[in-house]
Amino acid sequence: MHFETKAIRTQTERSQHNEHATPIFATSSFVFDDAEHMRALFENEVEGNIYSRFTNPSVREFETKMALLEGGEDCIATATGMAAIFATFASLLSQGDHIIMSRAVFGSTFKINSDYLAKWGITYDYIDPLDPDSWQQCVHQNTRLLYIETPSNPALDIIDLDYCSEFCKQNGIYLVVDNCFATPYLPATFRAWS
Ligand SMILES: Cc1ncc(COP(=O)(O)O)c(C=O)c1O
Repeated sequence: MHFETKAIRTQTERSQHNEHATPIFATSSFVFDDAEHMRALFENEVEGNIYSRFTNPSVREFETKMALLEGGEDCIATATGMAAIFATFASLLSQGDHIIMSRAVFGSTFKINSDYLAKWGITYDYIDPLDPDSWQQCVHQNTRLLYIETPSNPALDIIDLDYCSEFCKQNGIYLVVDNCFATPYLPATFRAWS
C-alpha cells in the first residue's frame, strides 16, 4: 500500500447506507444487546464500544490511520497535545522518578514539570538538545525517560531520533518524542547528525 493512499484504504466498516465517507459517530455511549452483553463488554470478554471516552468508531479510524501513516504499532488519540503529553507522563512515571527533558520544548510542557510532576515528587533536568555529549551526566539511577521535541517550537531544532533511541536503549530509559510539527510523510527517524 503506497503512503498516498494508506489513509483512504482504512476505514470504519461501511453501514447499510453504503456511504463513501465515514460518518462521525456523535454519540457519548452505545447500546447493548442485553444485560449479559453489557457485562461481557465491561469484562473485556468481547470487543465493542461502551462509551466514547473509551472507544468510538470515528476516533478509532483516525487512530488506525495515524498508526499506518507513521508506521507505528498503534495510536491513542487525545483531545489536545497537552493531554497527550500529560497522559504519557502519567502512565510511565511514578513518585520518585526523574526525567531528562530537552530545554527546547513548547512552553506549556515546562509547566507540567514545575506545576504538576514536582508536587508528586518527580524531578527533572533540562538538557541542551544540540549538545548530546552533555546528556549522560544527567542520567541517574531513577531516570525513567528522555523527552525531546523535534522540530522544536519555536526554534525548529532538529534532533537525531536514531541517536536518541540508541542513547535511551543504552541507559534503559524510555524515549518520548513530541513530533507535533512534522508530517508523517517525512520519516520519523529524520537523521540530522552525522
Ligand atoms: C510542539 C507542541 N507540543 C504541544 C502543543 C500543545 O498542543 P495543544 O494546544 O493541542 O494542547 C503545542 C501547541 O502548539 C506544540 O506546538
